[in-house]
Amino acid sequence: MTIKSVIQETPDIKTFHLVFQDEEMRKNFRFETGQFAEYSAFGSGESTFCIASSPTRMDYIECCFRKTGKVTDALFGLSEGDTIGFRGPYGNIFPLDKFEGKNLIFIGGGIALPPLRSVIWNVLDTRDRFGDISIVYGARSVDDLVYKRELKEWHERDDVTLVKTVDPGGETDNWDGHVGFVPTILENEFAPKPDNTIAIVCGPPIMIKYTFEALERLGFTQDQMITTLENRMKCGLGKCGRCNIGSTYVCIDGPVFWAEEIAEMPQEF
Ligand SMILES: Cc1cc2nc3c(=O)[nH]c(=O)nc-3n(C[C@H](O)[C@H](O)[C@H](O)COP(=O)(O)OP(=O)(O)OC[C@H]3O[C@@H](n4cnc5c(N)ncnc54)[C@H](O)[C@@H]3O)c2cc1C
Ligand code: FES
Repeated sequence: MTIKSVIQETPDIKTFHLVFQDEEMRKNFRFETGQFAEYSAFGSGESTFCIASSPTRMDYIECCFRKTGKVTDALFGLSEGDTIGFRGPYGNIFPLDKFEGKNLIFIGGGIALPPLRSVIWNVLDTRDRFGDISIVYGARSVDDLVYKRELKEWHERDDVTLVKTVDPGGETDNWDGHVGFVPTILENEFAPKPDNTIAIVCGPPIMIKYTFEALERLGFTQDQMITTLENRMKCGLGKCGRCNIGSTYVCIDGPVFWAEEIAEMPQEF
């Protein structure tokens, strides 16, 4: 694919807007929200990122990634007009048919906004199918918030409630959001009601754990909480055994799981 444009989200996170070089592929490519792909920098290898754009907006794909190692360093160095390898889509999907008619709360931390963003735009592009939409998003500091322009857009919409927060010490003088960890702000400040509501959670494992616990204290049941896991992957195809938790292969059985499925996984997770 060709990198059509690059957005520097934070000092170490970039968004790539990608277009297919092959016209037939562009026309035939389909994916659903929640799926991921393998992106490669030639000569360096592949990295797993979610597809961060919405399937309601075809003709392109967006990914958003943090520079953390060999492949992401190489990808980070690429510019507009460069070519990157892409294989996918892989994995299961967020079951939007089960979300229909319900209130949705998206809860994310740091670099975990990209997988939620795909669902958020899908839901906003088909807004009539869903009830109230809330987004609770936090990062370590104001600098670490991704998609700042879209946070502003969501904040300005009257059919979306945006609750944003940064960790204590990460605020700036003109910060207009909350200060505190995402699960704490969710439980103590926002305190959503569980009636007819699904919580879609994405973040590092520790954040998922504390967020599920906070949601349970608010009265949510396990069939009202869903998440996406980011275990290390290699093949993405259920072949290499890199991503499994017990007998569950995150790449083919997931990455999207209901809380009740996670509760049945071995304690190592
Ligand atoms: C389904 C899925 C979706 C993902 N979506 C995104 C995304 O949208 N954006 C994004 O930035 N990242 C995402 N990730 C994580 C991403 O795949 C890895 O961070 C990335 O591949 C690291 O590549 P690297 O070769 O640069 O790092 P490496 O050189 O392999 O590792 C660099 C450092 O990061 C650590 N690390 C690498 N991968 C992981 C991981 N998965 N979990 C915890 N620590 C890790 C290593 O231990 C090491 O310390 C996703 C992962 C999965 C499985
Ligand atoms: S990534 Fe190879 S089996 Fe899941």
